[in-house]
Amino acid sequence: MKKVKKKSKVVKAKALKKQVKVLKKQVKKSVKSKIVPRRTQRIKSGIPGLDPLTQGGLKEGSITLVIGTAGSGKTIFAMQFLMEGLKNGESCLYLTFEEKKEKLYSDVSAFGWDFKKYEEAKKFFAVEYNPEQVKSLIEEGGGTVDQLISKNKITRLVIDSITSFSLLYQDELSRKEAGLALFELMNKWGCTVLLTGQAVFKQQEFEETSLEFEADNIILLYHSKKAGKRIRALEILKMRGTKHVNKTMAFDITKTGLVVKPGTIVKNGF
Ligand SMILES: Nc1ncnc2c1ncn2[C@@H]1O[C@H](COP(=O)(O)OP(=O)(O)OP(=O)(O)O)[C@@H](O)[C@H]1O
Ligand SMILES: [Mg+2]
Repeated sequence: MKKVKKKSKVVKAKALKKQVKVLKKQVKKSVKSKIVPRRTQRIKSGIPGLDPLTQGGLKEGSITLVIGTAGSGKTIFAMQFLMEGLKNGESCLYLTFEEKKEKLYSDVSAFGWDFKKYEEAKKFFAVEYNPEQVKSLIEEGGGTVDQLISKNKITRLVIDSITSFSLLYQDELSRKEAGLALFELMNKWGCTVLLTGQAVFKQQEFEETSLEFEADNIILLYHSKKAGKRIRALEILKMRGTKHVNKTMAFDITKTGLVVKPGTIVKNGF
């Protein structure tokens, strides 16, 4: 019985792999513009204490998935990453399907971040997307976002969140197809991308979906309860081409944003 189960699992996995391969080919065909080659330089994440754990930062042009439960700090992490770019004179784009930008500006102003100022200076762009606009973005192979990125030379892009993007699609196949199309677009744009995602945990383990395989880097944010107190911690699950720490490190949300506490290893992520 066990053997049969195992065999059907293998067959299923093989079929899924094949399906993804076919989809990838289709998506590549639909994206007409050239794919921008990946660069090897690293850029600062903007999170104090994080870059020393990853050989100096995120690879320029890479795609990072920041995954965590509600309130784990994903949006603050993402905004801090953008603020780092803005402070260095870069142009940044925040694409959202869930946050209202005025509310967001007000929430993060507590950290001393004035996004409105950068928006007025045309260095920061926040776009709220509704489901229909997202679908046409994918169908048109970038559309208005494409123009916004090239016209303003955007170097850092955040999509908050990939989960709400996925939920726009009803069945698994169209979700996968749209997800792959989005990754192809992000590769084409060539920005350093940070995606946030709602964590799905199964039996204390982080459950992977097919999109995780497409990301270059995955950072997990934990907000676990111990003895009646919640502790924040961060784990680098993968970072392509990087020798990163494999320990779960504690972090705090301070008045200047996220700060990884050096040397404070958390035993259990959950
Ligand atoms: N000024 C602040 N100082 C300290 N902690 C803060 C501050 N502002 C927010 N927080 C903490 O950060 C949490 C919200 O973080 P954030 O919005 O980044 O979470 P999230 O992972 O994006 O959540 P969601 O999945 O709901 O979008 C709050 O619940 C609070 O615990
Ligand atoms: Mg959020």
